Amino acid sequence: MPVPESQTGFRVVLITPGGEREIRVPATQHIWDAALASGIRLPAMCHQGRCLSCAARLEGEGRVDQSDSHTYFPEDSAAGFVLPCTAKPLSDLRLRTHQQDAMRAFRREHGLPAPYS
Ligand code: FES
Repeated sequence: MPVPESQTGFRVVLITPGGEREIRVPATQHIWDAALASGIRLPAMCHQGRCLSCAARLEGEGRVDQSDSHTYFPEDSAAGFVLPCTAKPLSDLRLRTHQQDAMRAFRREHGLPAPYS
């Protein structure tokens, strides 16, 4: 029997200002798009992994593929920052959303590009 689409993909918990929501995200889909498809509109402007408006931060273990992002640095990854607009999951994840101010501050502290800050 085929597995319903709602039960496939990685389990991604979004910790938003309005509470926690759990969605399923296939390894081929950007997390932001999967959230929208579940009725969760996360912040975004560029949708290219450039502006940091969608920034989130990983809580605990987890891996993402940010190869679709225009600008994403090893330092971002080491600090647990994720750009959901262009991030595909490589594992189950817990992501704290609405982290654009924190990510911009982090980028500035590390001498990296921080658009709109
Ligand atoms: S919306 Fe611009 S980096 Fe994600």
